[in-house]
Amino acid sequence: MTATAARPAETFAAKQATTRHFLMCPPAYFTVEYVINPWMNPDEPVDAALAMAQWEELKNTYVRLGHTVNTIEPQPGLPDMVFAANSGTVIEGRVLGSKFRAPERAAEAEHFRRWFVTHGHRDLVMPTRINEAEGDFAWTGEVLLAGTGFRTDPAAHAEAQEALGVPVVSLNLIDERYYHLDTALFVLDKGPNAQIAYYPGAFSEGSRRVLARMFPDAVIADEADASCLGLNGVSDGHHVVLPFEATGLAAQLEERGYEVIGLDMSELRKSGGGPKCCTMELHS
Ligand code: ARG
Repeated sequence: MTATAARPAETFAAKQATTRHFLMCPPAYFTVEYVINPWMNPDEPVDAALAMAQWEELKNTYVRLGHTVNTIEPQPGLPDMVFAANSGTVIEGRVLGSKFRAPERAAEAEHFRRWFVTHGHRDLVMPTRINEAEGDFAWTGEVLLAGTGFRTDPAAHAEAQEALGVPVVSLNLIDERYYHLDTALFVLDKGPNAQIAYYPGAFSEGSRRVLARMFPDAVIADEADASCLGLNGVSDGHHVVLPFEATGLAAQLEERGYEVIGLDMSELRKSGGGPKCCTMELHS
């Protein structure tokens, strides 16, 4: 018997999916016309029809898996509005809106605020500090992991703790390619035994130590998985949606009993986005 075959079956418990509620925005006006992260190059053409097809595939995947997907009306002149994760943090009915660092994206926050209000989310606070929502916030079901370094202001972490009433753990991002927390880390399982996957190279040394202490059994991704935005994944606890290029990460996840669904996100990646960026989760 090989070492792998000898691994007791109970090492990794059976993976249980839970139904999720997502908010997405079709990339009707998607382009790359300004540069606010190192992935963006306005000289490289974007195939708008292909971007839409890739986004539709992502949305259809969620629906097929039994999740609820709401969509918000895209707006002309807001090419990054497809990245819905950046526009709100919703935990157990409480909503913290967003406040973008880049003036080019500032108007997105108000469209989403209105969506929340018109869809019955009355317990809503708008931030006073730069806050790019789920781009930099990952809810484990117990704590809110919060990134800073490029976008979200560290003072927004304290604001989030107060507005949402959940403990916040601040993490420092140090590599500009991984400018949002959700480009370097995602939650695989929520709850008291929460599990994450992350790319250590994106974090300061202190933050790496925090993550190792909190999640000693985390899935550790390498540079190859990170550089296709493989950490921009979405998990329902059993199915994990990833860019298909993240093959090393996919193999590790499958070994642990997750079912990986690899999607082509090439066009949205030209703006620095992947599956998670396109997906705001309304955490119940
Ligand atoms: N071009 C967008 C920006 O730089 C991409 C945002 C991706 N969203 C995310 N959650 N990482 O703001």
